[in-house]
Amino acid sequence: MEPVNLGLLGMGTVGGGTVTVLTDNAGEIARRAGREIHIAHAAAHQYDPQIRGLERIGRISKDASAVVEDPDIDIVIELIGGYSPAKELVLRAIEQGKHVVTANKALIALHGNEIFAAARGRGVTVAFEAAVAGGIPIIKALREGLAANHIEWIAGIINGTGNYILTEMGDKGRDFDAVLAEAQALGYAEADPAFDVEGIDAAHKLTILGSLAFGMPLQFAKTYTEGISGIQAQDVAYAADLGYQIKHLGITRKTDQGIEMRVHPTLIPRRRLIANVNGVMNAVLIKGDAVGPTLYYGAGAGAMPTASAVVADVVDVTRALTTDRDNRVPHLAFQPDELSDVPVLPMEQVRTAYYLRVIALDQPGVMARIAGILGEEGISIEAIQQKAPAQGDTHVPLVMLTRRVPEGQMNRAIARIENLESVTGQVVRIRMEPLAG
Ligand code: HSE
Repeated sequence: MEPVNLGLLGMGTVGGGTVTVLTDNAGEIARRAGREIHIAHAAAHQYDPQIRGLERIGRISKDASAVVEDPDIDIVIELIGGYSPAKELVLRAIEQGKHVVTANKALIALHGNEIFAAARGRGVTVAFEAAVAGGIPIIKALREGLAANHIEWIAGIINGTGNYILTEMGDKGRDFDAVLAEAQALGYAEADPAFDVEGIDAAHKLTILGSLAFGMPLQFAKTYTEGISGIQAQDVAYAADLGYQIKHLGITRKTDQGIEMRVHPTLIPRRRLIANVNGVMNAVLIKGDAVGPTLYYGAGAGAMPTASAVVADVVDVTRALTTDRDNRVPHLAFQPDELSDVPVLPMEQVRTAYYLRVIALDQPGVMARIAGILGEEGISIEAIQQKAPAQGDTHVPLVMLTRRVPEGQMNRAIARIENLESVTGQVVRIRMEPLAG
């Protein structure tokens, strides 16, 4: 059989890894796919001339459009990243009847609905395993392996850079900026690191997971997003004293009122396996009604792990080249006419437990006033601790854990607490999840 011809767009970290995996494992991959797989045409503005396997590429230029238009190409691999020109190139490839493999979570989260509709119209596949959690085959697990279940909720550490920063800060007390610079040097961080530390990258990935879990169109704009730049070392330490670890989680949950879609730092019990996922590693915990909780763990970023997912998609698409186009696995796990536009809950209506840290005057009655406000707002306190003041300071940190309450109720209570004369600065609020199976 003729080899399958790939057109590769972009040879940065993941593109270079893809060339190398296809070279190193060529024999094994061909045995699985049933055909040889060959990068016939690649386009990149810059690339490392040392990439292993570069010499096996048929043609290399700087012209991405030429790759997309090349009549010999069967599958286009988009590894440029970002919205433009990636979107135009992917849509053009589809128009040309080519299948597409992409690692571009931003593109899928924001423009996936349009891209999948175009692909359906043309009878081609757009595969995106590498877009979520790097090398972990989480799309395949959710879309195929768990197809028997009602998914109840998903909670994932889905940004390696953020997890690396939190781990290094927590374990070694290292400075935020130094760890971020290291993650960039290792090729983990996004081109704009704000995407990692402000949770945007995780929100892209959560948007995709939410749609696959609940059969709804992609709705990035409705995903609540909060990053880790506000996390302070003292909160990491206080949380540890209480038996919790702070992780930056993407959480999606089906409730009777709608779907929760939220990315934020979260206190989780240290005894959970996922609380011990450190460094650049990712993990996704999925609760299905039939299977119960399942946990997926692996490298969430980096050249070779992400290339592993890209190449797996290439193998999948190759195997499906000769299948009936109407019987392929649907892009968003559910048949396109079965997608339902269930409401995404506004954050004000989301119910979680909370960790609060209040800096208050060390005087009789202050703690009672704060507890009184929480009580008046219908918020039940689970634990309360007064921490030692800094030397010579008249103020003390008060740390509280609350039971689950709608966010809107907590917002009102926090505003009232911050208005107390005996309280200084802003209340630190970190949401808390038990992640119980
Ligand atoms: N910047 C991302 C991360 C890369 O750190 O997880 C993988 O999407």
